[in-house]
Amino acid sequence: MDAQNIFLLGFMGSGKTKLGKRLSKLLKYSFIDLDQWIEEKEGRSISKIFKESGESYFRKAESAYLYSINNISATVVATGGGTPCFHNNMDWMLQHGKCVWIKVSNEELFRRLKDTKDKRPLLRNLTDTELKDFIREKLEERMPYYSRAHLVIRSDGLKEQTLANQILNL
Ligand code: S3P
Repeated sequence: MDAQNIFLLGFMGSGKTKLGKRLSKLLKYSFIDLDQWIEEKEGRSISKIFKESGESYFRKAESAYLYSINNISATVVATGGGTPCFHNNMDWMLQHGKCVWIKVSNEELFRRLKDTKDKRPLLRNLTDTELKDFIREKLEERMPYYSRAHLVIRSDGLKEQTLANQILNL
């Protein structure tokens, strides 16, 4: 196993990108945001990819770009919320680094996501009630994947240095 890469997993709105950036600075690792990487390589936004090519195209691309990280090391990767749940992505990440699930309560996810729905293709057309249901149902569906992570953390209240130490000690 390439122990040096760190994959941050978690639902949309769990703060993977923000934490990933800080963690990579702290550990002196490189940082990759998978969604941003896909957007750069594809030359279009995630929303556009969903709209023009559909979710199944996006999932294939997501896997392909994830696997292309193959040769890198000492990198923190912020994945997309669905990344661990498609194709063999979770197995692949477990083999290529340390996986950390950032666990956030449904209520907090709702608070964070309700004003940023427009940026996210899976949420765009949902009412607040539908968003609450979506979070509950999708989290339940994704839990078996997320819970395979090497480490589970609650994003609130944990000092980043403590988290960095926990990850390094895995
Ligand atoms: C998705 C999460 C998004 C992005 C895409 C699909 C999902 O990433 O990959 O819109 O299926 O949960 P973030 O978790 O970074 O928002």
